[in-house]
Amino acid sequence: MLIIIKNNYDEISDEGAKIVAGIIRKKPDSVLGFATGSTPIGLYKELIRMHKEEGLDFSKVTTFNLDEYVGLPPSHNQSYHYFMWKNLFNHINVNKSNVYIPMGMADDINDHCEWYERKIQQHCGIDLQILGLGANGHIAFNEPGSSLGSRTRIKTLDEKTIKDNSRFFNNNIEDTPKFAITMGVGTIMEAKKLLLLASGIKKANAIKATIRGPITAMLPATIVQMHQFTTILIDREAASKL
Ligand code: F6R
Repeated sequence: MLIIIKNNYDEISDEGAKIVAGIIRKKPDSVLGFATGSTPIGLYKELIRMHKEEGLDFSKVTTFNLDEYVGLPPSHNQSYHYFMWKNLFNHINVNKSNVYIPMGMADDINDHCEWYERKIQQHCGIDLQILGLGANGHIAFNEPGSSLGSRTRIKTLDEKTIKDNSRFFNNNIEDTPKFAITMGVGTIMEAKKLLLLASGIKKANAIKATIRGPITAMLPATIVQMHQFTTILIDREAASKL
């Protein structure tokens, strides 16, 4: 594992974008795995700047997102489809037909999850998967207790995650989604490289567990220790308990 500690959020965003841009420049038809949440927003902003000012070219890139809420249409302003278009895809030259995000409104969710896995395989896997980290140690929506070999599937969200997310749904727990489609831990571990980002004191305990272990399904992020090419990119606060 390569652990990079930067001073603050802006610095991890810039460094993360440099890593992503390096991969695209080396392999213009890279397959990138993207995450939502607050952590990667700065990285996405920097990628947009690199596209606009330095001509970073996404025209041949394919993207797979980690997860999506069940029951939210892409047009819903809290869906991960909406998030990705707003925070990244609308501002770069990615080809719409190369963008894959799980469909929370799929008629047959299990079928859709199998299709998603097949699509990743048809693209010969993900070159670089960006990951955020839940304060409870989740990656994507693989909550504590998720099988470390799991594949893309529907998952019940942890009570704490639902509570955390309710701030985006007018603090109304009723309206906050209880299920999500998520890549599995096994799916994530098949990416050729992992880039896990975390910022802030709230992530310090989860980062300590992720780096120091022991590896346990109760903290799914700990599995990244087993990947040959994991980079953990954190700021001083997130690193403060190491
Ligand atoms: C989102 C995702 C989640 C987040 C995690 C951290 O696609 O997979 O696992 O990465 O909940 O969220 P933030 O970055 O908002 O702290």
